[in-house]
Amino acid sequence: MKTKLISLSEASLTLAAAFLKNGEPVVFPTETVYGLGAPIYDEKAIKKIFTIKKRPVDNPLIVHVASWEEALSLCVDPPPAFQVLAHRFWPGPLTIVLQRHEQVFPIISAGRPTIAIRMPSHPGALSLIQKTGEPLAAPSANLSGRPSPTSALDAWEDLKGKTVLILDGGACPIGIESTVISLIESNPVLLRPGSISAKEIEETLQMKLRQRTPNTKIDSPGMKYRHYAPQAKIRLVFRREELCGAFILSPNPQKGERLLTTQSLYAQFREADRLRESLIEIDCTPQLLSNEALMNRILKAANIHSLY
Ligand code: TXA
Ligand code: MG
Repeated sequence: MKTKLISLSEASLTLAAAFLKNGEPVVFPTETVYGLGAPIYDEKAIKKIFTIKKRPVDNPLIVHVASWEEALSLCVDPPPAFQVLAHRFWPGPLTIVLQRHEQVFPIISAGRPTIAIRMPSHPGALSLIQKTGEPLAAPSANLSGRPSPTSALDAWEDLKGKTVLILDGGACPIGIESTVISLIESNPVLLRPGSISAKEIEETLQMKLRQRTPNTKIDSPGMKYRHYAPQAKIRLVFRREELCGAFILSPNPQKGERLLTTQSLYAQFREADRLRESLIEIDCTPQLLSNEALMNRILKAANIHSLY
């Protein structure tokens, strides 16, 4: 079988679960971005994910669960904060890093003693996990280094020619990857900002989060790679009158400019590449600058480590 794309339905979910049980990776929609999944107890299928994506083997995968019991089976000694966060934010775009249970293959965590777990809220994703009968390890379904796919066609663009089944569930409602938080140390650490903000997590836990710094012991290996990047160069523009390029992204677009939202960022990056644009200009309004998750992805794509 080569790459196949079918629309999401009860029947295609059953077919996709059969593929997964047979060791074939499946691309499926989540509320954040599309994932490339394999059953966690099939080591050969997990290895295929790294090969298909050309993903460095030192970059661990997120495991997607459909129930609290599945989540508990993947970790040991979770702190009380785990239940508090899961109760408040699951199913949803929050990934929680805990101590890994020894029954989980080390390859999933790139050899680390930890495990990243998330319960997606997308009904198709939940149904696929349930029909497969075990959690699914799933990175975003892009080739390593490319923007995450927010539509089935984006995944197709990157993975065509590979042996995968792609379930088309339409555009992802959130459009950027989940918030990742580590509960490994006594103070929770924000490893990757996302649509669930640090502030919401702090209010829920009634505890300050530590931000990831180069000195944070628990890091998010994925964050070190140039990520989310289109081929075009990215230029941040802080004064509207200085916008002059052919491909302008703005939260308040004027004539000829394109709308920049969390949901559209990656789709716009990919569109720029399809049009072979060499430069993307970003209208950095105060509103955009205060959007931590979106700015995080833009700075990564622009290869800028900090604005200050
Ligand atoms: O929204 C999402 O999280 C999407 C959808 C498909 O669920 N998935 C996603 O996966 O973005 P991926 O592989 O593209 O990003 C996973 C991130 C990486 O930065 C990785 O380093 C980090 O999570 N991660 C995974 N396991 C980890 C662990 N044990 N410790 C620290 N970071 C971990
Ligand atoms: Mg990714």
